[in-house]
Amino acid sequence: MTDDDGELEARLAEGESFEPPASFVEQANAADPAIYEEFEENWPECWEQAADLIDWYEDYDEVLDESNAPFYEWFVNGKTNASYNCLDRHLEDRGDEIALQWVGEPVDEADRAFTYEELHKEVNEFAAGLRDLGVEADDVVTMYMPMVPELAIALLACARIGAPHSVVFAGFSADALATRMNAAESEYLLTCDGYYRRGDPLDHFSKANNGLSGVDHDVSTIVVDRLGDDGFGHDLSDDQTAYADLIAENEGATVEPVERDAEDMLFLMYTSGTTGKPKGVKHTTGGYLSWAAWTAQNVLDIKPEDTYFCSADIGWITGHSYIVYGPLALGTTTMMYEGTPDYPDKDRLWEIIEEYEATQLYTAPTAIRAFMKWGRSYPDKHDLSSLRLLGTVGEPINPRAWKWYYTHIGDEECPIVDTWWQTETGGMIVTTLPGLKTMKPGSAGPPLPGVDVRVVNVAGEEVDPGQAGYLTVHKPWPGMLRTLYNNDERFIKEYWQEYSDPEADEWVYFPEDGAKIDDNGYITVLGRVDDVINVSGHRLGTMEIESAIVGVEGVAEAAVVGGSHDIKGEAVYAYVITEEGYEENEELRQRIIDGVNEAIGPIAKPESVVFTPELPKTRSGKIMRRLLENIANGEELGNTSTLRNPDVVEDIQARAQNS
Ligand code: WTA
Repeated sequence: MTDDDGELEARLAEGESFEPPASFVEQANAADPAIYEEFEENWPECWEQAADLIDWYEDYDEVLDESNAPFYEWFVNGKTNASYNCLDRHLEDRGDEIALQWVGEPVDEADRAFTYEELHKEVNEFAAGLRDLGVEADDVVTMYMPMVPELAIALLACARIGAPHSVVFAGFSADALATRMNAAESEYLLTCDGYYRRGDPLDHFSKANNGLSGVDHDVSTIVVDRLGDDGFGHDLSDDQTAYADLIAENEGATVEPVERDAEDMLFLMYTSGTTGKPKGVKHTTGGYLSWAAWTAQNVLDIKPEDTYFCSADIGWITGHSYIVYGPLALGTTTMMYEGTPDYPDKDRLWEIIEEYEATQLYTAPTAIRAFMKWGRSYPDKHDLSSLRLLGTVGEPINPRAWKWYYTHIGDEECPIVDTWWQTETGGMIVTTLPGLKTMKPGSAGPPLPGVDVRVVNVAGEEVDPGQAGYLTVHKPWPGMLRTLYNNDERFIKEYWQEYSDPEADEWVYFPEDGAKIDDNGYITVLGRVDDVINVSGHRLGTMEIESAIVGVEGVAEAAVVGGSHDIKGEAVYAYVITEEGYEENEELRQRIIDGVNEAIGPIAKPESVVFTPELPKTRSGKIMRRLLENIANGEELGNTSTLRNPDVVEDIQARAQNS
């Protein structure tokens, strides 16, 4: 720790807060403090402001229909198209401006830029190609793609023809792909030969094909050639088409955007839950797009002339809302980077920001903690003065990382928005409006105007400031999920059961996060309260990981918990009981790690695997995860008196220290 960081620690301990820099305030999109009061008084009509950011073929009759709560409908009977809003309507004024600036991982490869005109052209051609393959409105198209422009193009092409997309993160395993394609009954897949990771070409196509072998219906696959001569020489089978051929066959084609009802599905996004089965979160066209655009404008302060950089992956919701839909709906230049921040060196992001004069950076606390560890010399080598605003998302940011970001990346000239939201919320719902609100490091901020978030106790009563409780949302908002795909029952059970009073028709959304609130209504998010671990800002269900481990030969039982980790925020800790006749050895440990890698992907690999003869259980046989968390974190053990087998805990503790 350097001296100024020491001083900083002391200042932060006093709960120091920061005012938005004057240079930012004078140009901020959200500039009128009355917005909070106005939105409260004028709810839900206030959300016409969001709907007004997009163009409608037909106006909606009603802002919100609550008659079938919690199956809310927004902008009832409005007709629109997301692809039209992200492309066509910008052509006249911004056709020659860059819509998508792509940066590949190899430094010696030319970056690719698409003007709105060019992006519109390729989206139309690909939309025509999808139709050639038989894709119709409401057919789910899966994308299993790394960060290449064709992924963004495919999203917009699907939106154009009313085919919902379901993007599966490229880092997920073949099994994860198959599970999601089966659940969505998706008959179309877009994938690619491979991509670059740390200088080497990586074979993605084999993984996709392995996944396809687990899909229980016929699939028509489109394959992007990303690697060219660096490829692995795979041949396409009869039901596989080269992306380039589809585009060539449809050169110059135009496809009229399909009029979609505001409530028609725009996309599905699978996310981890408490059971082993991922949840298919359904987002709609009108409410989601309005929300993505409104938050991008008011929180990220996006203006058409900006060059906005979000370093997330389009495989996650952040990339959907804040690389593709929000920024493009606003007609700005959005960036997309294929690689990792430390290749070829640890200044890659700063180099990109300098080269393209990026105006915003939206990234994850995990990345910021890594930058901090690498040291300030990397950003110091570059001119980052083009930056106007910084953002974070995905996990709580510790005040020290916040301050480092503020000082060394933002040069104390950029406000930071710490944005709390989820796959389910579609976009940000708790964060500061950057030109209007004081920043408090570590606290996401107050709810956005028109959003009713409260912190309550188990009985649903609001807790006093400073006390820990549960985050709850008491009014619907346009960007919210509408249901879980083909599973209304689970939708109610997962999100609405805990705090709602159906008899009184009072519906409260429960995101399963713990939080506390201060005297000024600022919310500090304390993390998940369900069995979900947040590794580097990625949600992983402990059940999913446990079932992967139990699937490994020689494993009888497993418990997985999240333990704190300096960089990743949380990491996966596994406690494993071996089957009779199997040895607790390195070979089995490796097979367990490989098993998780294969079933889910490298992000879910355990940080540590501790073998134990028993797991701590209550008298009713429930695993006491809290104790395992204490062990993972090297903390004092909590109360063990309710255990059936209290002695086992010390044994596990000793084994954990030696593993
Ligand atoms: C966590 C990512 C603290 C939270 C957009 C939430 C955060 C989960 C923050 C959703 C934040 C997200 N501060 N925690 N600013 N943002 N989270 O669905 O636990 O991948 O429930 O969406 O990430 O993760 P998801």
